[in-house]
Amino acid sequence: MSNKDKSSQISGFYKLSIKDRIELVKKFSNLNDEETQLFSSCLNMDIADRMIENVLGTFEIPLGIAVNFLINNKDYLVPMAIEESSVVAAASNAAKIARINGGFKTECTEPLMIGQIQILHIDDVVGSAKKILNKKKEILKLANNQDKVLVKFGGGAKDIEVRILDSPIGKMIVVHLIVDVRDAMGANAVNTMCEALAPMLEEIANGKVRLKILSNLADKRIVKAKAVFDKEKMGGEKVVDAFLESYNLAAIDPYRAATHNKGIMNGIDSLIIATGNDFRAIEAGAHAYAAKNGQYTSLSHYYKDKNGNLVGELELPMAIGIIGGVGNIHPKAKLCKKILGIKTAKELAEIVVSLGLAQNFAAVFALSTVGIQKGHMSLHAKNIAVMAGAEGNEIDKVAEKMIKEGKIKIDRAEEILKEIR
Ligand code: MEV
Repeated sequence: MSNKDKSSQISGFYKLSIKDRIELVKKFSNLNDEETQLFSSCLNMDIADRMIENVLGTFEIPLGIAVNFLINNKDYLVPMAIEESSVVAAASNAAKIARINGGFKTECTEPLMIGQIQILHIDDVVGSAKKILNKKKEILKLANNQDKVLVKFGGGAKDIEVRILDSPIGKMIVVHLIVDVRDAMGANAVNTMCEALAPMLEEIANGKVRLKILSNLADKRIVKAKAVFDKEKMGGEKVVDAFLESYNLAAIDPYRAATHNKGIMNGIDSLIIATGNDFRAIEAGAHAYAAKNGQYTSLSHYYKDKNGNLVGELELPMAIGIIGGVGNIHPKAKLCKKILGIKTAKELAEIVVSLGLAQNFAAVFALSTVGIQKGHMSLHAKNIAVMAGAEGNEIDKVAEKMIKEGKIKIDRAEEILKEIR
């Protein structure tokens, strides 16, 4: 059975042993024994040595699974590679609330990336800009000659834009090459095209090309996720109002917006890392996009619908791929893509942005009600309970008692465990 036929709504997933969680994911995503063994393995040293320079070893962070995600009517178990506690639990909880009103719905543009070619030392920038635009056909042809495979799959260079910019060192032209990169992140394809175009553009513009590189502000490759969070499940309309009060600070104040957006990136980065994508590129694009109107603001937007439920929307540039790059080399990245059961980069991007929205909702919901320390403390208490030897239902019982007593310590956990046994 494929995971499209199964539900990701699983209560008490966190209470299972690691072995049982793996067994469940194995069934959900049709993993074989070899694949499940990967969960406890480290990256092979030869692979690591080929990825970067001067390798000494590998650096591990936990890989967890967020449950309950329903995105465009399809269920997903979402792998998250992250070192921060509470994040996976918070995402799962938000996804559970979003499910009540149909889960996450997404929209996205074509996978268009922008390559920049900077041309300087031009006598007549307006005249040169016109000449470049007149040679658009030849420029696109030369760009597409660099990547026949991409063109075969329906991608390739599609358009150019010409910008004239004034700078402290004088006027310059920046040509934007718009490339449909299909299922790739696209950096290699775009950079190769930009480099190949440099001599041609120098000749047409009668200038000197300096930079030729992709832009991480991928604002032609946008994904939008939307979800309706049930007001009753949130604790009533007053809680929705409290949420909106919190959100409005992020909408007007960069100091709050930075933290608010950091909460979004908690979710986004963890899936970007798990699938072997470039989280620095996504971070750069997201924060530049957050300032697209001149002031840095919240990447997400919230409002109430006519029934008083909370509607959340998140819109982001999403330059990620499922082919090429580390995602094709790193065994765990390949495994995570299989867990998701994704077929295209677009599908992955939709999950990423939905996860970002879930994470953001969960953080602001907690901040608007009990605060986030409660969640942190609860997970901390559970960890201490496990360290004391608690298993299954015992974990919650020991943790709850310690929280109630305000004493989260291993010796107390051991005592409680003895009492309940
Ligand atoms: C912590 O990693 C993320 C939060 O600070 C996000 C937020 O404040 O919205 C909780």
